[in-house]
Amino acid sequence: MTHRIGIILNGVTGRMGTNQHLERSLCSIIKEGGIQLGSGQRIMPEIILTGRNEEKLRVLAEEHGRKTTGETFPYTTDLEGALNGSYGNYEVFFDASGTLQRGKFIEMAAAAGKAIYCEKPTATKSAEALRLAKLVDDAGLKNGVVQDKLWLPGFRKVRALRDRGYFGDILSVRGEFGYWVFTGLGGEQPAQRPSWNYRSEDGGGIMIDMFCHWHYLINNLFGPIRRLVAYGNTDITQRRNEHGDAFTCTADDSAYAIFVLHDGTVCQFNSSWCVRVRRDDLLSVEINGTKGSAVAGLRDVYLQSASDTPKPVWNPDVEQPIQFLDDWQKAPEGMVYDNAFKIQWQDFLRHVVLDEPWCYSLHEGAKGVQLAELGMQSWMESRWVEIPEL
Ligand SMILES: NC(=O)c1ccc[n+]([C@@H]2O[C@H](COP(=O)([O-])OP(=O)(O)OC[C@H]3O[C@@H](n4cnc5c(N)ncnc54)[C@H](O)[C@@H]3O)[C@@H](O)[C@H]2O)c1
Repeated sequence: MTHRIGIILNGVTGRMGTNQHLERSLCSIIKEGGIQLGSGQRIMPEIILTGRNEEKLRVLAEEHGRKTTGETFPYTTDLEGALNGSYGNYEVFFDASGTLQRGKFIEMAAAAGKAIYCEKPTATKSAEALRLAKLVDDAGLKNGVVQDKLWLPGFRKVRALRDRGYFGDILSVRGEFGYWVFTGLGGEQPAQRPSWNYRSEDGGGIMIDMFCHWHYLINNLFGPIRRLVAYGNTDITQRRNEHGDAFTCTADDSAYAIFVLHDGTVCQFNSSWCVRVRRDDLLSVEINGTKGSAVAGLRDVYLQSASDTPKPVWNPDVEQPIQFLDDWQKAPEGMVYDNAFKIQWQDFLRHVVLDEPWCYSLHEGAKGVQLAELGMQSWMESRWVEIPEL
């Protein structure tokens, strides 16, 4: 038996919409013959692409439709029509448009009674994120927010290590995120991220972007956050946009934070689009425990147990005798790891169709927005901030 599930993909011509959600998640699921449920049952997505630019939608629908089903995917600029059934029956609404557009689209989808799934952040202010969460909850609609990092191979391995007690007591967590985003100025290459990321009036800023991720990552792997102190900065004040025009950056492009958990564990995360990488990966998280430590990248994890720990002595007058990188072992690959966004899509669709448990709701997403907002408050007021129950 095939459970057909119709999905409206909105804002799909953007970077995330096209690469992660359309190509690597839904097209991949469709090409595999749907989500296999055992005993011959499966969930098969049927998608329609929506957005503002008909020509971009047509190109995307033709290219990906042909590669996936052999036929162009349906598409339209008439979102209202897609929601009210003018183009067929679609039960799920997904949004990967800009952060500041999200609220309007969620309102429309809620009014149409759709199950709602969307990119993070759901808003730039927690009051708005909470309003949207309440709107969909009060309407009794199934809902979810992308929390993709939880399904990255590196963090799935960390979770498994934690569950088998590898770390002993976890003492501290240090996250280093970032890479050089080109400015497009002074002979530099064009930027590899959308220019709105560097304008706060367009929903940009690294704190609102990354603290949402740090919230669910820390919360799910290490425990709930009790308080934080944060500082942000706009390191680079001028960049060139997609049209080649120079603009003034109004949003933070680097952010530094210490999060203290309820059990006292300290998690410190640096985030920046103005750093050059000399570490294993674009995100590297070091977890130090009484029995062992781990350094997780997006895919690989390196381990050092208590018994492998070298005993350094401070002496800058001689060449360092210890090759520190040699005392780390690569964590074994337990399985084949599929795309993180795709796994979360599969879980969400199983939740919608089969009513399976799901905890990555708009309300959970709002907590990430709250953390970013309180981070900005800490920065502006130069002080520690407690995190109240949302
Ligand atoms: N989960 C993650 O790791 C992750 C990573 C990057 C971005 N994001 C989030 O995904 C969202 C999209 O980011 P992106 O990097 O793809 O940006 P983008 O600029 O590449 O894409 C935004 C898309 O929204 C569309 N759009 C904007 N206004 C619209 C409107 N009024 N109606 C319809 N469509 C509209 C744009 O045309 C574009 O297709 C943002 O909210 C961002 O915070 C999440």
